[in-house]
Amino acid sequence: MTLERPPIRLLYIDDDRGLSRLVQKELGRHGYEVTLAADGDAGVAALDADDFDICALDHYMPGRDGLDVLPDILHRPAPPPVVYVTGAQEGRIAVAALRAGAADYVIKDVSEDFTALLRSALEDALLRRRLERENEEAQEQVRIARDRAECMLREVNHRVGNSLQLVSTFMSLQLRHMADEGARDALREAQARIEAVAHVHRRLYTSGDMETVDMQAYLDGLVGELTKSLGSDAASPNITLQAEPMRVSTDQAVSLGVIVTELVTNAVKYAYGAGEAGEIRVRLAPDPSGRAILTVEDDGPGLGDGKPKGTGLGGKIITAMASGLRSAVEFDSAHKGVRACLAFDL
Ligand SMILES: Nc1ncnc2c1ncn2[C@@H]1O[C@H](COP(=O)(O)OP(=O)(O)OP(=O)(O)O)[C@@H](O)[C@H]1O
Ligand SMILES: [Mg+2]
Repeated sequence: MTLERPPIRLLYIDDDRGLSRLVQKELGRHGYEVTLAADGDAGVAALDADDFDICALDHYMPGRDGLDVLPDILHRPAPPPVVYVTGAQEGRIAVAALRAGAADYVIKDVSEDFTALLRSALEDALLRRRLERENEEAQEQVRIARDRAECMLREVNHRVGNSLQLVSTFMSLQLRHMADEGARDALREAQARIEAVAHVHRRLYTSGDMETVDMQAYLDGLVGELTKSLGSDAASPNITLQAEPMRVSTDQAVSLGVIVTELVTNAVKYAYGAGEAGEIRVRLAPDPSGRAILTVEDDGPGLGDGKPKGTGLGGKIITAMASGLRSAVEFDSAHKGVRACLAFDL
């Protein structure tokens, strides 16, 4: 039993009738269905009328030569691969045909080798076309899978951001019913810590890039929220931001956001007395060694003995987050107030 394969539809464009017949007969025996065209225009008309898997195009023809016809074939929508047929000693023409987009070339030789050579060039060209198609399909599948994964990740970030927002809202509701000022402060700080994390997820949800975060935009939003949550009255210190454009990984952004929140919270609490105006400066800049430096500084009295007046949790959180960035926060003793610096690898 022979396996029925559909014939390979070949359009053979050549003015040499004798050779055309030979090709038709020989390739016909090898599973080809050969349509003959005696010149370029007849070939183009045949392509208009029918679908072909592949095309062979002769160079020397009366009227238009093969190089003149080739663009007409290749500029069609979804053109078949074209194998170019040239005389011996005509390397230049073969090269010109390949440059113009031919899949391969065969040297026209009156010996009976020609049909065998043509067949092998046709088969190679068809195989290459099939591999190209398969490759394109595989790439398309990868693209679809990646898009789907990104879409899910965006959805997850959206939900995480929303859930954290919900937790923060619960805390706001609870705050309204709390009279004790110390408890209110503690709750507000916890809320600021949660907001710092929620903010990263919201940035990821709205950004096209899921792996990195635009720090300028993120810190801008974060500083805005810290201003709202920590210093609601007019006399409270002014928080300024000066950030150079840079992108960091999601994990780095979460760590940096939490550190900024802790440092700014401390400055609000300890640098200026109640009703005292002042400035808290947040800066992010690349340094010449290829790292980046985050600085939070105020013009208050400085760290003093550094002993926690509160729970001391802030310092522990800062140490943990900084070690995640393979770094540590350092305090610049030359500065009058507190200047906390953190250098990290980008
Ligand atoms: N900007 C600052 N100006 C003056 N003193 C500071 C400043 N930042 C920190 N300190 C001092 O360092 C101490 C330790 O800060 P840390 O954040 O570790 O703990 P905390 O703020 O007291 O407690 P928590 O962060 O849990 O609320 C503070 O209690 C304060 O005395
Ligand atoms: Mg603190």
